[in-house]
Amino acid sequence: MQRKHKILVVGGGGREHALAWRCATEGHEVLAAPGSDAIATVARRFDIGVRDHEELVRLAVREGVDLVLIGPEQPLVEGLADRCRLAGLATFGPSAAAAELEGSKAAAKAFMARHHIPTAAYRTVGTLDEGLVALQAFERPPVIKASGLAAGKGVVVCGSFAEAETALRECLADHRFGAAGDTVVVEERLEGEEVSFFVVTDGRAAVTFPPVQDHKRLGDGDTGPNTGGMGAYLPAPVCSPQVHARIMEKIVEPTLSGLRLEGRPFCGVLFVGLMVDASGEPFVIEYNVRFGDPEAQALLLGLDEPLVPHLIAAANGGLTPGSLRAHASAVVVLASAGYPASSTTGVPIEGLGEAQTGRDDVVVFHAGTRRENATWLTAGGRVLGVAAKAQSIQIALSRAYEGLAGLTLDGGQWRRDVGAQALQRLGESPINLHTSGQK
Ligand code: AMP
Ligand code: GLY
Repeated sequence: MQRKHKILVVGGGGREHALAWRCATEGHEVLAAPGSDAIATVARRFDIGVRDHEELVRLAVREGVDLVLIGPEQPLVEGLADRCRLAGLATFGPSAAAAELEGSKAAAKAFMARHHIPTAAYRTVGTLDEGLVALQAFERPPVIKASGLAAGKGVVVCGSFAEAETALRECLADHRFGAAGDTVVVEERLEGEEVSFFVVTDGRAAVTFPPVQDHKRLGDGDTGPNTGGMGAYLPAPVCSPQVHARIMEKIVEPTLSGLRLEGRPFCGVLFVGLMVDASGEPFVIEYNVRFGDPEAQALLLGLDEPLVPHLIAAANGGLTPGSLRAHASAVVVLASAGYPASSTTGVPIEGLGEAQTGRDDVVVFHAGTRRENATWLTAGGRVLGVAAKAQSIQIALSRAYEGLAGLTLDGGQWRRDVGAQALQRLGESPINLHTSGQK
C-alpha cells in the first residue's frame, strides 16, 4: 500500500487542476492555494495568491504537509521553492537560481552555449540600435524574444525583416513587455516539428514522460496568433525511440549536469520545448521549469502508474531513474471569445454537469472558470480542456471532441485539428469532428 500524503498544490489554472486531480485520484489529501472553484471539488482551498510566499509557507507548516507542489513559473522564478526549503518543507519545484532557465531566455541561451546544448544560433541585445545591427547577421527573418517572463506573448516568429524590426521596436523602444523586454534574444528560426519533453528530476536522476505535442497557434493548420496552447496529445510520434535517446543524451543530461556544475541543481519538472528537424536532431526552443499547460492535462490523465511517489522522491533526493508509462491521451482547449488578445468573462458554460460525471477516461480540467450557485462561468482566456485517454491517439481524440460537443459556450473557440499531424504520420484517417461551427 502506498502511503497517503498531504500535498499542497500552489496555483489555480488548468495545470493545477490536473495536478490536484491526479494527487487526489492517487488517494492523497490535497490542499490548494489559491486553487479555483473546480479545484475545490478535489482539494481544500485556501485563498492565498501564488506571490504571497510568506502566507503559503505559513499554511504549509501549519498543515504539516508532506509536499509542496508548485505549479506556475512565476513563484518559482521569484524563489518560492527556496523559501519553502528554508522552512524545512519537502518541495517539488526548482530554486530561483535553477528557474532562471525559464525566467531569462538570455541566461538560458548563454547556459546552453556554455554546455554545448543544441539550440538556434542567437544574439542578445539590450538596445534598439544593437538589435538593428544584430538583424544584419541573419540570412532569414529571425525570431524575436523578450528575455523575461511575458506570459507566452513575448515571442514573434517573424515572416520578414520589417516584422523583426517592429518586434524589436515594441520591446526595446515602446517597452511593451516592461522590464521583461529590456533584453531581447534574436535567434535563427528553426524548422521541423515541435515536441514538449518532460522529466521529473532531483537534479541527478530523471524519470521521463512520454513526449507530448502542443498546438500553440489559435487557428487550424497552425495559423493565427500564438497562444498558451490550444490542445495537446501524446505520445508524439515524431519522437521515435532514437529521437528520445538523442534528447536525453544531448539535451536533458547535459542540462542537469550543467546546472549541478554551476551549483544550482534542478529539483522539479524540467520541460524542454524542442524542435526536431527532418533528420531527427533535437534543438532546444526554450526551457520551462514546470509542467506545461495544456500538456499536463493530457499527460496526468493518461499516466498508467502513480506520479506522487516520484514527486516525493525528487523533493527528498534519491529519485530512481526510469520512464513513466501512459495511455494515448489528448486534450482540446475551449477558449473564450477574443482570446488571446482579450478574454470575455462571466459567460455561462453549459453541459459541464454531464461532461463530468461517471467517466475516468474523459475529464474536463478547468483553466479559467468560476461557479455561481449551480452555474459555471468563464473567468479567463483559456476556459477549460476536455481531456481523454484511450488505446490510441485517434480514439482519445474522438472522445475528447465528443466531450467538447456536449458543451455550449457563446463565442467559444477551439481547434478542430488537434492531433491531425500525428494521425497523418501514423497513417490513420482524420477523426469525424462532430463539433464544427461556433459554440
Ligand atoms: P516560446 O514562448 O519560447 O515557447 O515560443 C513560442 C513559440 O514560438 C514556440 O512554441 C515555437 O512555436 C515558436 N518559436 C520560438 N522560437 C523559435 C525558433 N527559434 N524557431 C522556430 N519557432 C520558434
Ligand atoms: N503549453 C506550453 C506551456 O505551458 O508553456
